[in-house]
Amino acid sequence: MSQLPFSQACENNKAPILEVLRHSFASVNRVLEIGSGTGQHGVYFSAALPHINWQCSDMGNLSPLNARLALEGQGRLSKALALDVTGPWPALEVDGIFSANTLHIMDKGSVECFFAGAGRVLGATGQLCIYGPFNYGGDYTSASNRDFDAWLKARDSASGIRDIEWILQLADAAGFALIQDHAMPANNRLLHLTKVSQDSQG
Ligand SMILES: C[S@@+](CC[C@H](N)C(=O)[O-])C[C@H]1O[C@@H](n2cnc3c(N)ncnc32)[C@H](O)[C@@H]1O
Repeated sequence: MSQLPFSQACENNKAPILEVLRHSFASVNRVLEIGSGTGQHGVYFSAALPHINWQCSDMGNLSPLNARLALEGQGRLSKALALDVTGPWPALEVDGIFSANTLHIMDKGSVECFFAGAGRVLGATGQLCIYGPFNYGGDYTSASNRDFDAWLKARDSASGIRDIEWILQLADAAGFALIQDHAMPANNRLLHLTKVSQDSQG
């Protein structure tokens, strides 16, 4: 088998993220991961949080992702779902959603679809955890995030680090309330939100 795709960032951030998820997902049984990428997070979190049935997904290129889940998933992980947040979402019964490093990759319309879809899929008390970099008060939180944003935009002008205020507006419109905004290593954040009401976006 050819080498599986690998993310050093995942290796670096998975342990600190797990420490937050142990609390945020303590009462959660079935998690949808959006934009699973290499699958390293799914493999690690599903092994460390055995009370959770972890469902990976991504918008495409599922073969290498599924290869990792089969090889390293210890039988815990079923095949990844094809899920592009801008398209129809499969019927799902989940009480948690996790996504890492996706909102700065998606264009703004896709980010809106992300929250509208998450609001539809999660019922009352559903938990949503989002990891990645955000801007606060219209500014970067570090020089490295400024450089990263410039790099992202040079690659794809529709991508970029999102303003936390806009993200929380979208979350609110989709029926979520922020429980905690965790500071994470390397100038990242982990937003823990809970579903408090039916979303207003349908
Ligand atoms: C930077 S990678 C992050 C992958 C992984 N979560 C991680 O932390 O390493 C961004 C991921 O977002 C996914 N993505 C981008 N646009 C998407 C969309 N519209 N719907 C679902 N996933 C999307 C990409 O396919 C990719 O896997």
